[in-house]
Amino acid sequence: MSSNSLTIAVSKGRIFKDALPLLDGAGIVPRDDPERSRKLILDTSRDDVKLVLIRASDVPTYVDYGAADIGIAGKDVLMEYEGDGLYELLDLKIARCRLMVAGPADGARDSGHGLRVATKYVNSARRYFASQGKQVEIIKLYGSMELAPLVGLADRIVDVVDTGNTLKANGLKPLEHIADISSRLIVNKASMKMKHAAVKQFIDDVARSVARFNPDE
Ligand code: ATP
Ligand code: PRP
Repeated sequence: MSSNSLTIAVSKGRIFKDALPLLDGAGIVPRDDPERSRKLILDTSRDDVKLVLIRASDVPTYVDYGAADIGIAGKDVLMEYEGDGLYELLDLKIARCRLMVAGPADGARDSGHGLRVATKYVNSARRYFASQGKQVEIIKLYGSMELAPLVGLADRIVDVVDTGNTLKANGLKPLEHIADISSRLIVNKASMKMKHAAVKQFIDDVARSVARFNPDE
């Protein structure tokens, strides 16, 4: 990669959609619509900037290893990630939600011992329950956590909650707040040094966009 080109890793769907206006503010407009195109690398209005489209939970890995200089990742994903090759530099204030413990709405069954918790957020869940002095058994899932208490797989789940509609539709309710979540700009540590001018310009431009969209914060 040349010293002035930038590769930005972003996931399709919610984060991409919310990030578009912020990227626009930095003069970056993708040349294809990822919801229509099957391409995984998108050219942009800037010849020196490409977007790579990957799973939300893979974004830190691409940035950590330098396959992307910059990434946009949810704090929930970053809290799970264990590599140390990246910096978290900017809160983009998009894709906001809360990481929560949830359980059955009809009086959560809490036997007090041997609580089973199903989640894809294994590290965050383990840290949270340890901080509460509670011993729990964590069951790793990759999605549809809401199903676990309904079929007796677990007593609780740890998942992100926004409106609470998904929990409600499945007879669950939020019980404990673990963390406020939003998407963050992350930067590969080596890119930060080697492409400092380009990275800094990009961060400054995006920070200005974030401020413009959130005048009261
Ligand atoms: P993967 O494809 O890697 O399994 P995912 O399905 O969680 O990830 P998305 O649903 O696109 O990917 O969510 C991306 C990010 O958006 C999450 O990491 C989280 O930070 C945030 N997010 C998830 N659900 C919501 C929601 N209902 N409202 C707002 N933000 C959310
Ligand atoms: C996310 C998350 C919850 C839901 C919470 O799912 O996994 O299930 O949103 O949002 P709510 O509180 O507003 O209902 P998403 O819609 O992204 O589906 P996915 O995880 O299957 O991608």
